[in-house]
Amino acid sequence: MELSRNEKILLKRLIEKSGEDSLSNIMKDLSLSIVEIMNAASWLKMKGLLKIDERVNVEYYLTDEGKRYIEKGLPERIIFNYLVENGKKSIDDMVKIFGKNFVTIAIANLKGDGFEIENGNLVLKDKEKVEKRIREREEYLKDFKNIPGEMISYFLKRNIVEKKENVERFFRITENAKSIDKKDLEVRDEITQLKPEDIQTGAWKNKDLKRYDVQMFAPYPSMGRMHPLSEFIRKVRRIFLNMGFREIYGYYVVSAFWNMDALFIPQDHPARDMQDTFYVDRKFPLPDYYKTVKKVHENGNGISRGWKYSWQENLAISGLLRTHTTVNSIKYLYDHRDEVIRVFTVGRVFRRENMDSTHLPEFHQIEGIMVEPGSNFSMLLGTLSSFYRELGFDKIRFKPSYFPYTEPSVEIHVFKDKWIELGGAGVFRPEVTEPLGIKGKVLAWGLGLERLAMLYYGYNDIRDLYIADIDKLRSLPLL
Ligand code: PHE
Repeated sequence: MELSRNEKILLKRLIEKSGEDSLSNIMKDLSLSIVEIMNAASWLKMKGLLKIDERVNVEYYLTDEGKRYIEKGLPERIIFNYLVENGKKSIDDMVKIFGKNFVTIAIANLKGDGFEIENGNLVLKDKEKVEKRIREREEYLKDFKNIPGEMISYFLKRNIVEKKENVERFFRITENAKSIDKKDLEVRDEITQLKPEDIQTGAWKNKDLKRYDVQMFAPYPSMGRMHPLSEFIRKVRRIFLNMGFREIYGYYVVSAFWNMDALFIPQDHPARDMQDTFYVDRKFPLPDYYKTVKKVHENGNGISRGWKYSWQENLAISGLLRTHTTVNSIKYLYDHRDEVIRVFTVGRVFRRENMDSTHLPEFHQIEGIMVEPGSNFSMLLGTLSSFYRELGFDKIRFKPSYFPYTEPSVEIHVFKDKWIELGGAGVFRPEVTEPLGIKGKVLAWGLGLERLAMLYYGYNDIRDLYIADIDKLRSLPLL
């Protein structure tokens, strides 16, 4: 039977060790890699010379908490010692001395069988018995070699010990292998690359040529790839770029003026509340046209009747973390008043939200504006429909809605199993555009990115988009 160099090495080694050994032992002795050994082993197995067994080894390790207990003592030990020295004590006193968490752990693991709570006091009924219970735990913790099953489950439950399973491979030679001639196991030089000299001198005749095997066992290479959220953002960008839009960027920290006032959001609007917006300790100068904005807020400045209140400069100059990317659009509009505009932003925004399966305090919006000769509301709906269609969402509907800065305003809903609201859009009101001297229609939208990404990837929890678990990420399909 023909055997490769590595097959011979492995077989020889196994015969020396009375026919059986584990992969990890073999790796220690032979200067072969795990891949080379597994390859050789699979071939020997196919040739009927070797059997491969897998055994799952369960091992127990101390957790960090466990290690801390070994060093400082179990909470129940510390409480016990204290009680032995000081007699019975009330739980309240103990909490003052040791902290609530600590006392709770101690009580939970000590109650009953000699240790009781009576009228809010911790009482040692049977000192020896309690001492014995604690000592038993301490001894098993030092050495889990002969630890009974229920004790291990107990430690696992307390998160003192953790379990690790590893698969150990064992190789055992077959009867056939035992009858192989020693001479056939002689390891000869193998040529992996045939050189001209080998051919010219005829040296190749005395050497073994290594065979190629395209079906050889090889570890699965895990390649670098983009995080799904980055991948999705890139996709969104590409769609708008392909539709002729240019990407614009902006700062996270902006003034309330740009984030709200310039958008005709009244200063008593609930979204401006400290409950909803993260303010920062910084003030910003106001742009030259703020006096017009003030007038528009107060009395409409001939455009409408305004909000009828006294506009405060000191509120407008406050810094905040942008609550929507519409701030990028309005600033861009201010800098490019007489131009044709097709721009978009994909960016982070910040709102004081509690985190749950559909909310994050930090998320992304897909924002954009369009200003063209003759631009109108149906162009807006058409552009948004094309965008969603590019992502594979064909069923879209627009519902009348309200934003202080657009009229008409719509909400965009996309259908996937059910209708899901994904953003807002509209035509900027004259109260927003006229102070800038803009006469044409400014089409604007702001769409949620994470919710769309969830639909796209089929996630149910928004937090799944932010996982940094490398195994989970590797298991995602390449889209
Ligand atoms: N800024 C709005 C939001 O955050 C979305 C929007 C943008 C609506 C532009 C209309 C126009 O929900």
